[in-house]
Amino acid sequence: MTDVGPIQRFYDRWAGPYDLIGNAPPVRGWRRRAVDALDLAGGETVVEMGCGTGANLPLLRERVGPSGQVIGLDLTSGMLDYARERIERGGWENVHLVHGDATAPPIDGDVDAVFASFVVGMFDDPDAVVEEWLRLLGGAGRIALLDAGPSDRPAAIPLNAVFRAFTRLTAPASRTTPASPAIELGRRVRTAHSEVERLAKESNRVAFGFGFLRLTAGRLA
Ligand SMILES: C[S@@+](CC[C@H](N)C(=O)[O-])C[C@H]1O[C@@H](n2cnc3c(N)ncnc32)[C@H](O)[C@@H]1O
Repeated sequence: MTDVGPIQRFYDRWAGPYDLIGNAPPVRGWRRRAVDALDLAGGETVVEMGCGTGANLPLLRERVGPSGQVIGLDLTSGMLDYARERIERGGWENVHLVHGDATAPPIDGDVDAVFASFVVGMFDDPDAVVEEWLRLLGGAGRIALLDAGPSDRPAAIPLNAVFRAFTRLTAPASRTTPASPAIELGRRVRTAHSEVERLAKESNRVAFGFGFLRLTAGRLA
């Protein structure tokens, strides 16, 4: 089971800088691409797992419209504070936050879609968590995962050193932190995305950003 204490302490401390970087224009472009892959329709309910400071919430809300519902779930209060401010500033009555653990999401009711960006790499058992998320969809619905990991493109090999250094700096310290956080991150991301492909009726995986970003979208029925 993942020890969530170091994750909460890390993101509580760095919520401000994270919010700035997470809303920089190139990152917003990646987010838009991932939300598009979810193929949301007006009136639907979408749950964002590990919503952080809420950078995706406006995009998800735009897609489900005023009659839909957006639920953002995260376990770090400091990150949710930013998300809450964003919701209040926007006056979005159909966007709700839940303080909880995405490995056992405390969500009831019909869910049409699940979204998660830069989150599955936090889980010791990402395949079990993805399976749990798909269970929320009750046999139908869509999921999209957006993640970063080491690139396997030959041209990006020199940049992998930069990626490894960045991952080491930004990995929450924990007693389970492996010798190479970037390699473990890559393994977890591959595992989670493969699980979507294994369980979805239809799926589509793309890599972009020199192969450092992976987006997998799946449809259950
Ligand atoms: C790298 S940030 C990504 C935030 C957001 N998804 C984004 O794209 O900006 C990872 C987030 O996952 C949250 N998180 C990590 N483990 C979690 C868990 N078990 N349950 C809920 N949230 C979790 C952290 O609190 C943090 O806000």
